[in-house]
Amino acid sequence: PATLRVGIAGLGTVGVGVVRLLAANAELIATRAGRPIAITAVAARDRTRERGVDLSGLRWHDDARGLAGDPDVDVVVELIGGAEGPARQLVEASLAAGRPVVTANKALIAIHGASLAAMAERSAVPLCFEAAVAGGIPVIKAVREGLAADRLTRVGGILNGTCNYILTAMRESGRDFASILAEAQALGYAEADPSTDIDGIDAAHKLAILAALAFGRPVDFASVHVEGIRAVGALDIAFAQELGYRIKLLGIARLAEAGVEARVHPCLVPQTMPIALVDGVFNAVFAEGDFVGRVMLEGRGAGAGPTASAVVADLIDVARGTTIPVWGANAEHLSQVVSVPIGER
Ligand code: NDP
Ligand code: HSE
Repeated sequence: PATLRVGIAGLGTVGVGVVRLLAANAELIATRAGRPIAITAVAARDRTRERGVDLSGLRWHDDARGLAGDPDVDVVVELIGGAEGPARQLVEASLAAGRPVVTANKALIAIHGASLAAMAERSAVPLCFEAAVAGGIPVIKAVREGLAADRLTRVGGILNGTCNYILTAMRESGRDFASILAEAQALGYAEADPSTDIDGIDAAHKLAILAALAFGRPVDFASVHVEGIRAVGALDIAFAQELGYRIKLLGIARLAEAGVEARVHPCLVPQTMPIALVDGVFNAVFAEGDFVGRVMLEGRGAGAGPTASAVVADLIDVARGTTIPVWGANAEHLSQVVSVPIGER
């Protein structure tokens, strides 16, 4: 069977992770996908940067949008980031050209998911974003497919690896916020602008996506409460510990009669609760349904390896032709999912 030819835009933490994973597990991936998956073209800003992976023989695009029209590309993988600019332009151009898209870009999906889904539907091509929520945890599949039979009433969890890494290291080592954040950046966990992480916006993007998938209805994002971890100090962490709690940045969305209530803020979590023990870069996502009860998934929420794992799983779905519509079982409710002015916060 024909090789699935991949064009990757963005060769940073995640892009390089995807190049590595596709090379390291090529045989296994080809078996599971039913055909080989090979990168044929790439795009990034700096052509001269040494990236520690072999890019020889791949077509280089100085303008990422070139991937959308490259005749040797069957599927575009967007790993640039940001809700606007080159990432949005590339995804829109690709969908308009009838190319499947895989992205890890939660800001883009949270803010423009509805219009992009409509474009994908019009062109009858998949738009996949497993890596956009909780890194390596297959949570989009779990909520959209695994829990498709349930009426979900609550969804949320620890949705930002950088914040959980910072809160954990402050508690365990007493080190200061700034030096731990620098470490999280060096490890590739943080967003290009790390205030997106520490001000809770990244977690809000992920919660918005989860809530839309779980509840099948628009979220009024203007009413989402978003609070980050800047104000959490060493004393707060020490007092919480003494009283039997841990401080976690949680995102929680609930289906109420009036609509979806969604909030992101630091919480005092009793040390006896399983989610209190989710530390470091790990995320945890929970969902509550009328028949399944409570489900919780835990795993690495950021970093090259876990995120690449989710991106390549999407590529395998594209190769096998087993992708499902963006809003899954809730498709009929979601034609009016609204834009999210979260970027204005
Ligand atoms: P990086 O900042 O490490 O990489 C971004 C890449 O995009 C760089 O290679 C950069 O090029 C390239 N780029 C920037 N602007 C342009 C442009 N105009 N045209 C072409 N390429 C461009 O980001 P990450 O890899 O960390 O993140 C990528 C995406 O994945 C983001 O949406 C992020 O939110 C998401 N994500 C990240 C996770 C993580 O753990 N890091 C986890 C889950 C999702 P150059 O290298 O030349 O500067
Ligand atoms: N910056 C994000 C985080 C990357 O720390 O969780 C994963 O989405």
